[in-house]
Amino acid sequence: MSAEFFRSIKLALSVEQYRQLPRNAAFKYELIDGETWLTPRPRWYHAVIDLKTFDVPAGAGEDFLLRPLEPADWDELPRLFAAAFRTVQPFGSLDEDDRLGAARHCLERTRSGSDGPLIGQACFVAQARAEQHACGVVLLTLVRDVDLTDPDERCLWGEPPPADAVERRLGLPHLTWIFVGPWHAGSGIGSALLARAVGELLNLGFERLASTFLLGNESSTLWHWRNGFRLLAHPYSTRELRRRWRG
Ligand SMILES: CC(C)(COP(=O)(O)OP(=O)(O)OC[C@H]1O[C@@H](n2cnc3c(N)ncnc32)[C@H](O)[C@@H]1OP(=O)(O)O)[C@@H](O)C(=O)NCCC(=O)NCCS
Repeated sequence: MSAEFFRSIKLALSVEQYRQLPRNAAFKYELIDGETWLTPRPRWYHAVIDLKTFDVPAGAGEDFLLRPLEPADWDELPRLFAAAFRTVQPFGSLDEDDRLGAARHCLERTRSGSDGPLIGQACFVAQARAEQHACGVVLLTLVRDVDLTDPDERCLWGEPPPADAVERRLGLPHLTWIFVGPWHAGSGIGSALLARAVGELLNLGFERLASTFLLGNESSTLWHWRNGFRLLAHPYSTRELRRRWRG
């Protein structure tokens, strides 16, 4: 998760400029005593795909090599992460050094198992045929298989799961990070990485893949939608809470 990297933003704007300011759904906008305040109000949504019926959109990423993630890739990934998220909140509002630090922090969490055990077989790197460097990556971890619409449930493990949790399928695969370098975005690489990951998850015997995205990250939202993810109710949706109270 990226909640810790959100910062409040204060701007000196006239009332008219405040009115014209484009909005991002992850922030609350207020004009207080002549100062404009953008206060973080991030909301994450979960989505799932049923792997057996997964169908990747045609024309995904033919110009790129996809290969399994290797240990040496971890050194290179923070720069790619920082570039991919340079306009995506909360990382887009950090300066370059802090963004790279945040990238290292997030990826170290994933590598070390804090986001759940890494499903190494289903993590893939994309490389442009003419280049040596990674231009995209998908990282999957295993989270607890809980009701993701329940506000009282936590999908991260409280206690470390058994070492063979992935082999025994003791949880739910989660798309923890996917990112593509800005020069290569929109070419089908993200979709191709997802398709390879889905293939491996099916080989491992999994049936569903969950993902989480931030409201306000439109490209991620559309990407999930376009690739067949089904949006789940937000845990604090009024309808969902009413349904639970009645139930
Ligand atoms: C989201 C991301 C991984 C998508 O990868 P990608 O290789 O650029 O996406 P694809 O080419 O596979 O796009 C598939 C679909 O996603 C949507 N999409 C992707 N990028 C988009 C953008 N910038 N604006 C609008 N829609 C976009 C489109 O619907 C597209 O379908 P189409 O090509 O038929 O129109 C990539 O843009 C990225 O790295 N973004 C920044 C990091 C991020 O937000 N990651 C997701 C959260 S972990």
